[in-house]
Parts: sequence; structure tokens; C-alpha cells
Amino acid sequence: MAEGRPAILAEGLEKSYGTTRALAGLDLAVEEGTVLGLLGPNGAGKTTAVRILTTLLAPDAGRAEVTGLDVVRQADELRSKIGLTGQYAAVDEYLTGRENLEMVGRLYHLSKKYSRKRADELLERFDLTGAGSRLVKTYSGGMRRRLDLAASLVYSPPILFLDEPTTGLDPRSRLAMWEIIGELVSGGTTLLLTTQYLDEADRLADRIAVVDTGRVIAEGTADELKAKVGGERLELVVSEDSDLRTAARALERHAKGGAGGGVRTDVDRRHVGATVEGGARLLVSVVRDLDAAGVQVDDLGLHRPTLDDVFLALTGRAAEPSEEGLPGHQEKETA
Ligand SMILES: Nc1ncnc2c1ncn2[C@@H]1O[C@H](COP(=O)(O)OP(=O)(O)OP(=O)(O)O)[C@@H](O)[C@H]1O
Ligand SMILES: [Mg+2]
Repeated sequence: MAEGRPAILAEGLEKSYGTTRALAGLDLAVEEGTVLGLLGPNGAGKTTAVRILTTLLAPDAGRAEVTGLDVVRQADELRSKIGLTGQYAAVDEYLTGRENLEMVGRLYHLSKKYSRKRADELLERFDLTGAGSRLVKTYSGGMRRRLDLAASLVYSPPILFLDEPTTGLDPRSRLAMWEIIGELVSGGTTLLLTTQYLDEADRLADRIAVVDTGRVIAEGTADELKAKVGGERLELVVSEDSDLRTAARALERHAKGGAGGGVRTDVDRRHVGATVEGGARLLVSVVRDLDAAGVQVDDLGLHRPTLDDVFLALTGRAAEPSEEGLPGHQEKETA
């Protein structure tokens, strides 16, 4: 790799599918041995960017290089240096789990013996030993997903791209995946991972690029991004549904102005939150106001901003999708 150049570099990438503009001038730089989290909502352009960087798709404009190799002109040479796990499992239905992994080993010219050993290790790792000799078409969605991830680790490439590596995994597999990713990275792998999960980006990525409508709208460490929002979040839970509105109004008086300071309410959880500044003193005056308004609270606290607050501040909307099959609130597990 060229000395001092980022392991992954994208400049002004543009890509349209018909009239849909998937990338609108995307810039990225990932230093060797670090993890970049590409964070963005559905349709932001994450997969398109990964496909271009892994030579599967040519950009309409702009350029990119990975380990110093141009993704278009030097695509063949580059392919042997990168690993990719796509958003959708790409395993062969009519082979067993073990055969799939062994096949990948052979594609990378690993010896038969080593491929077999590696396949066994990975099956064990991903809790698939028992299912290793079954055809993949009998696997559940989560099992396929795990096998697909295992396949991208058969050969440990210096640069790895993981497109939403934990979408559709149950919490236990998700934690296992995080562990494996952590090990790869401490072994020196450069990693670009896409995710819609803020906690995942927070936990795994050295730097985070927030992507929206085909371009990077903010980039930095999780802490730098959180500092952009400024202030803290004041969160409270009221005892009675009927007090939610009054509590929201009381908080409005203390909310920090500007983007991100908006008071958010969640009726189901009887929850109100706002970005504030003023620490403990402010907390006291909020309590006084709530008391004066006759609002009973079950819970009240000040928190540092989350990446979700960052996303809201940047785009005016929440980042986390609210679809079925997603891990949902994981605070307890990841705290
Ligand atoms: N093959 C395609 N043909 C037409 N439009 C496409 C195609 N692939 C992607 N798009 C569109 O391009 C935009 C970016 O899609 P992309 O898949 O890169 O987003 P993403 O960030 O990966 O989203 P998700 O989180 O849902 O995976 C979207 O509007 C999508 O509908
Ligand atoms: Mg995608």
C-alpha cells in the first residue's frame, strides 16, 4: 500500500439508478487498521457505496481506491485483498454449511486441509457445528446470516467490508459478531461496516460517517459527533398518561433552542425528553416546575447525548428504523 495513504479512499462518488440518485458526491477516507462505521437510514446509499468500493459496481463519477488500487482500473488485483459480507446472504442453498465454507477457502486458493480446518473453526464460532452437514436451504434466516458472515472470514483479508453485519441476528449472535469483529480489528484488519444501529457504530467504529441521501453529512468519532449536539438530554417518565402533555410543556421552557433541542414525547413509554444545558441546577428547576404543575414523575435524569440525538440534530429525523425483526432497545445488554 502506498505509504501514508488511507486504506480506503473515496472522492466524489456519484451513482444513479435511472432517476434515483443513490450517491451524490460521497467522500470517505479510512486509515489502515481502523474501523469506519457508515451510518445511515434505509436508502441512504450505504450498500451502493460498498458495492463500488468492492468493485461490484462502477461509479458514474468520482473515484475510489482501496489499498492504493483503483476500484475500476485495478479491480482484478484488488479483489484478492478484500472480503465482503453483503446485506443479503450469498450462500449456496444446495450445499451444506461446511461445503459452503470449504468452497470459499478453495476460491481463495487455500489448501484443502486448511479450508476444512478453517470451516470447522468457523462453524463452531458461529454456533453452527450441529447444522454444518445440513443443506443451507434448511437453515433459518439467522443461520444463513451467520454462515454468510463466517464465509467472509474464511480467508482473513487485510480489508473487510461488512454491509449491515448484524441485521436480522438475535441479540446473542449479535454480541458474538461484535466480539469477532473486535478480534479482527485488533489483529490489524481495516474494516468498513455499514449499520443502521447507533449502538453498533458507537461500540465498533473508531470513526463514524453519517450518510444521508448519498453523501456524508457528518464525520468524526462518536464523541465528536455527540459534542456537535451539545448539551445533555433530560429524560423523564410521568406516572400518569394524562400528565404527558403538561410535562412536555414544562420541559419546553428549559429546552435548548435550535435543532435537536426539540422536546420529544413517547406516549407508549410515558416518556418526555429534551436537549438542555445547565446541569443539576436546571434539573432542580425542572422538578420545581413539574411539581407546581402537579405532575408526578416515575423517573427523571440527565444523560449525555446519544448518536440518535446527533442524527436527529443533523437531519431533523430519527435514524433508527422501527421495523420488525430489529434488535430494538439494547441499553441493558450493551451498557
Ligand atoms: N439496483 C437498483 N435499482 C434501482 N434503485 C436502486 C438499486 N439499488 C439501490 N437503489 C436505490 O438507491 C438508493 C440507495 O440504495 P442503497 O441500497 O445504497 O441504500 P442503503 O443505505 O444500503 O439502504 P438500506 O439501509 O435499506 O440497506 C435507494 O433509493 C434505493 O432504492
Ligand atoms: Mg443497504
